[in-house]
Amino acid sequence: MSKPRYERPVLIRHEAGLMNKFGRVQALRPLTEIDGAAVDELVAAYGSPLFVFSERTLVERARELKEAFARRWPRVRLAWSYKTNYLGGICRIFHREGAFAEVVSDFEYDKALGLGVPPDHIHWNGPYKTDAALTRALAGGAIVHLDHFDELAAAERIAERLDLRPSVALRISLSVEGVPEWSRFGFHLESGQARDAVARLVAGNRLELVGLHCHLGTFIADVRAYGEQARKLARLANEIRERHGVRLGFIDIGGGFASHNTLKEQYLPGTQATPPFSRYAEAVIEGLCELTCPAREQPLLVLETGRALVDDAGTLIATVHANKRLPDGRRGVVLDAGVNVLFTAFWYRHDVVPCQETHGTPEPTVLFGPLCMNIDVIRDSLLLPPLQVGDRIALRNCGAYNVTQWMQFITYRPAVVLVGDGGRHALLRRCETLDDVVGPEQTPPWL
Ligand SMILES: Cc1ncc(COP(=O)(O)O)c(C=O)c1O
Repeated sequence: MSKPRYERPVLIRHEAGLMNKFGRVQALRPLTEIDGAAVDELVAAYGSPLFVFSERTLVERARELKEAFARRWPRVRLAWSYKTNYLGGICRIFHREGAFAEVVSDFEYDKALGLGVPPDHIHWNGPYKTDAALTRALAGGAIVHLDHFDELAAAERIAERLDLRPSVALRISLSVEGVPEWSRFGFHLESGQARDAVARLVAGNRLELVGLHCHLGTFIADVRAYGEQARKLARLANEIRERHGVRLGFIDIGGGFASHNTLKEQYLPGTQATPPFSRYAEAVIEGLCELTCPAREQPLLVLETGRALVDDAGTLIATVHANKRLPDGRRGVVLDAGVNVLFTAFWYRHDVVPCQETHGTPEPTVLFGPLCMNIDVIRDSLLLPPLQVGDRIALRNCGAYNVTQWMQFITYRPAVVLVGDGGRHALLRRCETLDDVVGPEQTPPWL
């Protein structure tokens, strides 16, 4: 009998990453770089916390959206929803991809003009447009979406004063199954208000009706809602054509597609539950097929997609400031970023990924922000391996609404950077300073 050959033993550290039905706990795969830019290098250059945007993801999402619809409908326009993220660099990327601007305030209109967007490439929405704003928009040739009868009358007065016949759209609110109704915006369809508004506008003969607009809501993962919305808008367009002889130039279905985030109440992760753009497109086009106009007169389809384009492109890098043990046994981690910068933590379970190799058994963890406020919780329960003071974590999919709705509360808002081709990176917005915050303050002379 021959002697067994000696084999050198190999020691492998046991990583006790727990399995769930989707496989290994995702948080254990570290995120050390974003599109070729090392996280450590980014933090060394711009500080922590830090928002990092991927130019590649922004472009890919914009093209994916456009292609999904353009394959199914002959004329499609994206109007970038400024309120979702109006950092100049982000808007420029969407405009470079051919997007118009969708704005809802004077400030956003100025911002779009400042970025070189011509007024007739701007859709102006929202329930509040002052007379001055409306005058500027109508005189400049912006595409104004009227929200209520007072605004319709104001637009007519201004048009008369300017001796113009401006092109306008009507915002419509309507009910679709399974989506809470946003009836406070626009003219309501089912109550008959939308038809009254059309009749009123046509009879006034001061404004030219060129479009219908409807924004259903936000983070709508059921594509059937869009099918129903498009069908209702198509039927209204048919009626307008038959009754008033008005041929509409566009139908704007607003925004609201879900990003790959996970809502707090959602069971499946967003990466599995969120439909691809192609499924939204199929549903919308099926609805638009109710249009009875000749093919060559089919209206342009306008999309105001916001979060589904930009959310996935944004990552917030935060640093562990302290670990503590809570009385219920959970581990608490104090981060340098809280709900002041990650507003969306109130309704999303953002993916959390360490930015360095971690070892040890994941345990239930609460992620706290730095604010001296009880509500400052980024994640209230997740499994994370031990983290050391100074370790970094990445909070994924936070590109939408955070850098517009963030709060300047007791601290400075952090820097935002863009990572482009080959890992090159540059600031989109620098970190705030004391001067930025106190600059607008005045001291009354008697103090
Ligand atoms: C009129 C309008 N269009 C587009 C959007 C963008 O929506 P989302 O980010 O959900 O796609 C919004 C957001 O509230 C909106 O009010």
